[in-house]
Amino acid sequence: MNNTPPIIALDFASAPETFAFLNRFDGEELFVKVGMELFYQEGPSILEQLKHRNCRIFLDLKCHDIPTTVYKAMKRLAGFGVHLVNVHAAGGKRMMEAALEGLEAGTSAGQKRPSLIAVTQLTSTSPEMLHEELLIKTPLAETVLHYSRFAEESGLDGVVCSVHEAERIYQEVSPSFLTVTPGIRLADDQKNDQVRVATPADAKEKGVSAIVVGRSITKAEDPVAAYQKIVREWKGIKA
Ligand code: C5P
Repeated sequence: MNNTPPIIALDFASAPETFAFLNRFDGEELFVKVGMELFYQEGPSILEQLKHRNCRIFLDLKCHDIPTTVYKAMKRLAGFGVHLVNVHAAGGKRMMEAALEGLEAGTSAGQKRPSLIAVTQLTSTSPEMLHEELLIKTPLAETVLHYSRFAEESGLDGVVCSVHEAERIYQEVSPSFLTVTPGIRLADDQKNDQVRVATPADAKEKGVSAIVVGRSITKAEDPVAAYQKIVREWKGIKA
């Protein structure tokens, strides 16, 4: 995923809202993320419409279920022609292996299998929440590293983590393991419900594979200008 542009989280309620937003970008080739809200509203047809607009797609459905169910879900998702899909690492090693087997079984000969990544800890999770609500006493960064190790052992292509954990994953798991990082904010932006945030410049410095940006672009007064500012920071281009 070298030279991946910022992945825009299309957290919109419908296709018309999504395309009203995308039309502002004047045909520019974009990498977008379709999450639960949009997918549950529009179904697979939204993916066809986005592909028709030349978008690369991260389908962010964060599957987390028993291995057989995740295998079958991934077998279906493999036919959608998207670039990236994900599961929750908390589903365990056997579930992640089943996810990969499902994707491989559902990818037709001659087609490229979508990359599969595992969510470690959500970027909205704080150390306090992990310890007090989930009763996980291990330090948050250690849990992310541990989940990343067993995602790699399960054959996955990478993980979703915050920028703050990416460097250790790169050093201690594998330099070729993808780190896809949400929780990205420009220095002056609101954090909203995110906790472990970082700027695009921090992400570049830490060597993450890709950044995912939602509200800093979608809720900006001028989304195209916000996107371009993020692209410049992410690529290290001085203003
Ligand atoms: O608006 P914002 O930039 O916070 O959006 C981040 C996007 O990334 C949301 O669509 C959210 O579902 C997703 N995400 C996340 N943390 C994860 C995995 C996905 O914020 N660990």
